[in-house]
Amino acid sequence: MALHCRRACRQYLLHLAHDNVDFRLPEIKALLSLRKRPFDTSETFSEKSPFWQLNGLSEDDIRRVMSRTICGKSSFELWGHGTTTDELRTSLLKYPAENMAPYLQQNSTYKINVYTFNKTLVFNNRIQKIDALDFLPFKGTVNLKDPEHIFCLLEDYGSDPNDIPEEPFHIYFGRWIADGQRELIRSYSVKKRHFIGNTSMDARLSFIMANHAKVKADDLVYDPFVGTGSLLVACSHFGAYVCGTDIDYNTIHGIGKASRKNQKWRGPDENIRANLRQYGTESLYVDVMVSDASKPVWRTNAQFDAIVTDPPYGIRESTRRTGSHKDIIKPPVDLYCEEMVPLHPCLTLISNCEQTLSSHTSRRLITMEKTKEPEDSDRLSHLADPRFTPYQGHNSFREKYFSGLTKKNRKDAKATPRNKE
Ligand SMILES: C[S@@+](CC[C@H](N)C(=O)[O-])C[C@H]1O[C@@H](n2cnc3c(N)ncnc32)[C@H](O)[C@@H]1O
Repeated sequence: MALHCRRACRQYLLHLAHDNVDFRLPEIKALLSLRKRPFDTSETFSEKSPFWQLNGLSEDDIRRVMSRTICGKSSFELWGHGTTTDELRTSLLKYPAENMAPYLQQNSTYKINVYTFNKTLVFNNRIQKIDALDFLPFKGTVNLKDPEHIFCLLEDYGSDPNDIPEEPFHIYFGRWIADGQRELIRSYSVKKRHFIGNTSMDARLSFIMANHAKVKADDLVYDPFVGTGSLLVACSHFGAYVCGTDIDYNTIHGIGKASRKNQKWRGPDENIRANLRQYGTESLYVDVMVSDASKPVWRTNAQFDAIVTDPPYGIRESTRRTGSHKDIIKPPVDLYCEEMVPLHPCLTLISNCEQTLSSHTSRRLITMEKTKEPEDSDRLSHLADPRFTPYQGHNSFREKYFSGLTKKNRKDAKATPRNKE
């Protein structure tokens, strides 16, 4: 019983990337629920911190999450933590020796890293911190190049770069388990993508969206505003069959003007299928077709496991050619209110994440889960909703956008790259 508790009661530490902060909690929650591991996150998660202590999970849960997460950088089995070095030491000395022992064996190799958030330490300082851990019973040999076990001392100096404290607010020590999938941001960068357009979604968000949608192997995923298929690329990476529609004939057929610098026309074979081929997932390509998403073409019983999409915003995208950056124009942030989030009796809102793009623009990733089959009465249910107002062209987006922008912030909006890769 005691042994079981020691295993089950292990704590893990996630080190999260400090970008797209709003997307982090829903991403990890979605990945854990794919493992059927819903859990209470409220106690330990802080929007402001890149460190997150997780209880009640197994190492296997953590490894599975890390095999997909974009928001998670690294994960550790937490051996101890505290607000001072003394507290850390006390906490480490309390950690069950039998949990540590397999990783401290005489014939093993190891190294200790020091990671500091919001502060840079000089080399000697790092070495001092490692030396201060000599009370731990390491019996193996240090191997900096290819160690069997990696440990990490992580120090949190808060999130204000203008007010960095002398001593960290919190210190953690743990055994490294696995890194997340941030490498995908580079390897799937639209800069290196075969077929791109002015509004191609960047790799980072495409993967985050696929994770929020819990896309998994053998799912059938549909993007009604497919464009150049960036979301299909991400979903097929996780093993889903993918299909899409777009109103633009040229985009679907990969013809017309190129979006790349120094290229006038799209070359032969610049299309979504070729994008999937580039990443080895062509076998998961179902098809794409020209279709107006406001006039559904699907049989009423058509079933998709997920619909992942980046709809048009009602404002024409700039035609400026940019190699990788796109101009983005979105409504002023202060004009958003929660009532704008659409409701449907068959859909439950799971998360609503804001991505700030500039001082006055942002966009939202809204994730909903279908929680019941539609009934006849659902068709008119929106009329009974007190929030219901007759359709006003995406909540009068165009009017708000153009009335809300001064000359100055319009310039600012233009200068803001949509996707920072
Ligand atoms: C923001 S872009 C999507 C970009 C896409 N995620 C990508 O990575 O390339 C929106 C797309 O919606 C398409 N679109 C606009 N109105 C549409 C409609 N009524 N039905 C289907 N597609 C539409 C546009 O042609 C455009 O390709």
